Amino acid sequence: MLKVNGINAFYGKIQVLKSISLEVEEGSIVTILGANGAGKTTTMKTISGLLKPQAGSIQFQGQDVTGLRPDQLLRKGVALVPEGRQILSGMTVLENLEMGAYHRKDNEIAQDIKNVMERFPILEERQKQLGGTLSGGQQQMLAIARAILSKPKLLLLDEPSMGLAPLIVADIFKIITEINEAGTTVLLVEQNARQALKISDYGYVLETGKMVAEGSSQKLLNDPRIMEAYLGRKSS
Ligand SMILES: Nc1ncnc2c1ncn2[C@@H]1O[C@H](COP(=O)(O)OP(=O)(O)O)[C@@H](O)[C@H]1O
Ligand SMILES: [Mg+2]
Repeated sequence: MLKVNGINAFYGKIQVLKSISLEVEEGSIVTILGANGAGKTTTMKTISGLLKPQAGSIQFQGQDVTGLRPDQLLRKGVALVPEGRQILSGMTVLENLEMGAYHRKDNEIAQDIKNVMERFPILEERQKQLGGTLSGGQQQMLAIARAILSKPKLLLLDEPSMGLAPLIVADIFKIITEINEAGTTVLLVEQNARQALKISDYGYVLETGKMVAEGSSQKLLNDPRIMEAYLGRKSS
């Protein structure tokens, strides 16, 4: 579904991505692991069109989408839930959800918002509250729900569990699994490596802008070298 081929990305003169390649098969969950500063967010920004690669190509569903803008990619079915959530804190929960569907022209938006609220009852309860008054976990759910309302084929999630309490983290991983089971392909960036691999099919390890390892999630989970170097933080 997604093929990233040898992309380079720079901030000014500093090269942050050095010929990154990765593939995401339709229907799968793929995780990118890596320490702080490895280039994970930059990779997600490049795939979602926020940053233009200086070399390499990106293919989505067999089409060359290299250099397209985020709104063009969104229309093709690529949605990003950015790091740090970035919901609109001065708008209500409902308005935030409506923003997720702003580019759609079909008549199912109201029904889809209803469905999303059924799935995230807390968002229904708080629909008139400002986004900024939600807790971190609720904001993350809102960010994910908003992305779902764009009806993505590929959902990019940049550290969705960051800064959340363990119980909420478990919820978030469960939600990601459910979204995938409902037919959406997922590319996930996580520091919570063990839990991320447990729900993933395949994983990549990024180190200072280069892919240094890849393999099935099972293989990565069972590789002591990788566990020690990249899966650092222990969790269940
Ligand atoms: N807007 C920016 N301007 C300049 N350098 C940046 C910017 N954003 C990130 N960087 C640098 O690029 C590198 C990769 O960052 P990032 O992709 O955010 O890593 P990660 O998400 O893996 O923590 C880091 O060295 C970071 O300091
Ligand atoms: Mg990041």
